[in-house]
Amino acid sequence: MPLARSLSVTSLSGLEEWDEEFDLEDAVLFEIAWEVANKVGGIYTVIQTKARLTAEEWGENYFLVGPYVESNVRTQVELIEPTNPVLKRTIDQMNASGCKIYFGRWLIEGSPYVVLIDVGFTAWSLDRWKRELWEHCGIGVPWFDREANDAVLFGFLTAWLLGEYAAQSEESPHIVAHFHEWLAGLGLVLCRQRQLPIATIFTTHATLLGRYLCAGSVDFYNNLAQFNVDKEAGDRQIYHRYCLERAAAHCTHVFTTVSQITAIEAEHLLKRKPDIITPNGLNVKKFSAMHEFQNLHAQSKSRIQEFVRGHFYGHLDFNLDKCLFLFIAGRYEFSNKGADVFLEALARLNYLLRVNHSDVTVIAFFIMPARTNNFNVETLKGQAVRKQLWDTAQTVKERFGKKLYESLLVGQLPDVSKMLDKEDFTIMKRAIFATQRQSQPPVCTHNMLEDSSDPILSCVRRIGLFNSSSDRVKIIFHPEFLSSTSPLLPMDYEEFVRGCHLGVFPSYYEPWGYTPAECTVMGIPSISTNLSGFGCFMEEHIADPSAYGIYILDRRYKGVDESCNQLTSFLFQFCKQSRRQRIIQRNRTERLSDLLDWRYLGRFYIAARHMALAKAFPDTFIYEPEETASTAGFRYPRPASVPPSPALSRHSSPHHSEAEDNEEDERYDEELEAEKDRVNIRQPYTMPVKNKVSA
Ligand code: UDP
Ligand code: G6P
Ligand code: GLC
Repeated sequence: MPLARSLSVTSLSGLEEWDEEFDLEDAVLFEIAWEVANKVGGIYTVIQTKARLTAEEWGENYFLVGPYVESNVRTQVELIEPTNPVLKRTIDQMNASGCKIYFGRWLIEGSPYVVLIDVGFTAWSLDRWKRELWEHCGIGVPWFDREANDAVLFGFLTAWLLGEYAAQSEESPHIVAHFHEWLAGLGLVLCRQRQLPIATIFTTHATLLGRYLCAGSVDFYNNLAQFNVDKEAGDRQIYHRYCLERAAAHCTHVFTTVSQITAIEAEHLLKRKPDIITPNGLNVKKFSAMHEFQNLHAQSKSRIQEFVRGHFYGHLDFNLDKCLFLFIAGRYEFSNKGADVFLEALARLNYLLRVNHSDVTVIAFFIMPARTNNFNVETLKGQAVRKQLWDTAQTVKERFGKKLYESLLVGQLPDVSKMLDKEDFTIMKRAIFATQRQSQPPVCTHNMLEDSSDPILSCVRRIGLFNSSSDRVKIIFHPEFLSSTSPLLPMDYEEFVRGCHLGVFPSYYEPWGYTPAECTVMGIPSISTNLSGFGCFMEEHIADPSAYGIYILDRRYKGVDESCNQLTSFLFQFCKQSRRQRIIQRNRTERLSDLLDWRYLGRFYIAARHMALAKAFPDTFIYEPEETASTAGFRYPRPASVPPSPALSRHSSPHHSEAEDNEEDERYDEELEAEKDRVNIRQPYTMPVKNKVSA
């Protein structure tokens, strides 16, 4: 019986409402990625945040396929019996033939079904499958590349799963299989080579060559058309990986990537132009109270401040209330992620703040996982000392309170000079002595395995930012992703971002870049670049991005030194903003969330699936290309009430004291509402997604 599935996307401020009803009959969607229930980087975020919308659309017929990793399953997946009888037969059949396949619900929003494949369990087939890969596809994979070996196992097993599913189905089903990134790409190649009746989509989130070439000293964007791709891949010993990636891109019915800039790169390096761009969205949370996210900022900020109190114990000679928290986060690709440019700009900012006698202190966090031997003693000690000071204050407070109470009980006002006795002073002095330290507060929170050659630490040594008292810019390198169970900084990444003031992502190579997008939906301003998918997307859709707290650094047309200067200028301007200006800017930033919501961007994935169904099953499905989803034409106008630079914006009086700022804090709601009325976001975007796929 045909299943009618409908998806209704409702009001997204300024963006067109979108109602869609389509009949996918018996179609089944498999989405395959190495990062299903397995966090590595941004692809995990794509899959995890999109799950709710896709599950709403496909219901019981949506299955995510990923690797079985025991530690992940223990914390994220509820294993159950397969609900779909065809899939149950498929999994039983494979398990009876020497595989280990699990089925469950991934415990995230949308609770999608997951099929998890234990690739290690079938490692005994590796040599046979590699031989087959060589014989049928001419791709040879060397024994020493563990990741590629996993890709081979995962590829053969997913192709087996899909083939078995098709074979077990009574009537020929309409299967869509969406593969992400080269690590999952071989499954697609094999589906096509075996001529399985499956509509395939391949989404690349970066190109292997692009990532490798950019990490070296290559003028990448000016030479895209000139690279001898085979040679470059061979020189970097990734030729086999490159072949897997390129084969997937060429075999697929529909090829997609996450941004225009990566589409151009793919066209040159993979030699196929993507059929459609599928920008990355997020699962945007809407709070019932308009400014709840501002309160969350204040709460999280105070937790970061607590950490800072401990980290800088004995050197807390700066005003925490005037402290700005900046951060960069993501996989540790020093120059691709622009950590090099960020450090250089911080050194210049330090100079500017010092010569201008600024009372602002900047603390820049680097959250990038590297190889470590756990937290270092000095860092842990800092938090212990802070805790001890807190406990001491509580003890003295209690003793003080008791004396006060006893005095009141006998009807006397206390003699203030006797409220603290000798013992209290001894306790307090002892605690203060414990806060003395000979060394500067550490730059790095962990013991690094490659301390002397680590790129961030080497750069810090060169620019001399060692957290000394005279520095207005301090650096904290946390070489591990954040976690709420950390003994050092017990916050998850989202809480941490909310508590910061500015995310800085000056990437040179960044197909999309989730980190600035996540900042935006949490109402935290960010700096990205015109070489990142996100930066270009925002530039295209916002008339004056910086007024909304979206600073886009020019790394395309400027040299490194000039880009550093521009970044320094962004940072310095940001430091000059008053609290009130920051609050207003955060409100504007948050207002852009709808643009990044999957409820808006999910339509591109839908279009890709329609396109693939129509290509694979032309007798059943029709795709009308002129109705392809497009965001072209939509632009958020510049907020009517602001001059172009937020640093200069909205001072009603030229003399603006801190007291005034604080008073005005309380009025910001009203004011912003008024501003919002003036903004009048137009609705120029029209994308008539009707039922493109008809049975
Ligand atoms: N991230 C995280 N914990 C951290 C720091 C980062 O989970 O402590 C996540 C972040 O939420 C983002 C992802 O890592 O979704 C990085 O994705 P991005 O697209 O920015 O870069 P990629 O690492 O994929 O190149
Ligand atoms: C939020 C809170 C305000 C607080 C402000 C601090 O807006 O609602 O109560 O004053 O954050 O902002 P800042 O940029 O100084 O961290
Ligand atoms: C890749 C890219 C990153 C992108 C992510 C999700 O890891 O490096 O820029 O955001 O995939 O598409």
